[in-house]
Amino acid sequence: MTKFNDARRRFLQVSLAAGAAASLPSVNLLKAEETTAVAEKVFPETTFSLDGRKIRIFTKTVAEPVRILHISDTHLYLDDERGDSYREYSERMSKAYNSTRNYKNGAETNPVEMFKQIVEEAGSQDLDAIAMTGDIVSFPSAAGVDFVLDELGKISAPRYYISGNHDWHFEGMVGTERELRDEWIEKRLKPLYPSDVNPLCYSVKVKGVKMVFIDDSIYEILPQQLDFIREELASMEPTAVFMHIPLYAPGRSVAFGVGNPNWNASTDGNYKIERRPRWPENGHSETTYAFRDILLNASNLLGVFQGHIHRQSLDICQGKPLHVAPSATDGSSISIEILPM
Ligand SMILES: [Fe+2]
Repeated sequence: MTKFNDARRRFLQVSLAAGAAASLPSVNLLKAEETTAVAEKVFPETTFSLDGRKIRIFTKTVAEPVRILHISDTHLYLDDERGDSYREYSERMSKAYNSTRNYKNGAETNPVEMFKQIVEEAGSQDLDAIAMTGDIVSFPSAAGVDFVLDELGKISAPRYYISGNHDWHFEGMVGTERELRDEWIEKRLKPLYPSDVNPLCYSVKVKGVKMVFIDDSIYEILPQQLDFIREELASMEPTAVFMHIPLYAPGRSVAFGVGNPNWNASTDGNYKIERRPRWPENGHSETTYAFRDILLNASNLLGVFQGHIHRQSLDICQGKPLHVAPSATDGSSISIEILPM
C-alpha cells in the first residue's frame, strides 16, 4: 500500500464517516484494498496542465468539455455620488490601480478599459461559466458594481462571484471584518452573486462539474463554511474550488494566507495602511487549518483557483493544484478547460 493510497483511504474514511455520501457503500467498513478500489472507481485518473494563461484538466469524470473563464482582482475604482459620504474610507484605494499597462502590448491603460477588453474577448468564446474571485472593485462602490453588471450583461455566459478583501472594505470604518463583510455584501455587492445563494459559500453544477465558491476574504474560514465544503466534497463529484485568498503553500509569502502557520499579528505588515484590525496574535482558528486539510485530502478536487496575490503562480500540494490568477488590471484572465479523457 503506497502512501498515496493510504491518504486516499483516510480521506474516504473521514468523509464518508461524516455521513454525507449516501449513494456510496459504507466504505469505512471495508478492508483497505477494497477501499482503494472504491476510491479509484469513484474518482478515476485526472491530469492538470498549465500553459501560460490556459489550464487544461483531463478527466474521466466528465462527458463533455467544460469551459470556465477565471477573472480576479480587477480592482475597478469607479465611483459616483452614491460614494460621496464614504470618500474618507475609499480615498486610498480609489487611486491604487487606476493606471496600468495592457499585458498584451505594454500600452498604458486602466482597469475599466481592461475589464471591457476581457468581456469582449469572453463574448467570442463558448464559455460555460465566468468565475470572479474577488477584488473586482477596490472598495464597496455602487458605480463599480453597476459597471460590472452592465458589461457582463453584454454576453450570455453565466457569471459567479465571491468577494475579496477589498470588495467590502472601507478603510478605517469601525467594525469587525466579519461585520463589515456582511454589511457591504448586503448593501453593495449582492447583485454580483447568483440569486438566492449564501454569499459566504455556495456551489453550482456546470455540465457535471461542481464549482464551489468560498469567501475566505477575512483570511479565516467559519464553521458553517467548513461544514459546507466537507459536504460538497463528500459527494465525490469532480469539484473546482474558487476563492480569493490562496491556501498556504510552503515557501510562499504570508499572503498565501489560509491555513498558513506564519499568519498572525507579527506578520501583518499592512493593517495600519489598510486601517483594519490587526491579524490575531495566535494566528488561525482550528477551523481554518481543518479547511485546508480537507481540501488537500479530497481525491475529487480538480484544483483550487484563487487570486489576491496579483501574480500568477501554481503550487502542487499533496497532489492538488493550487493556482493563482494574475490581476486582471492588465487585461489578464485564465481559461480553464475541463475535458473528457
Ligand atoms: Fe487584489
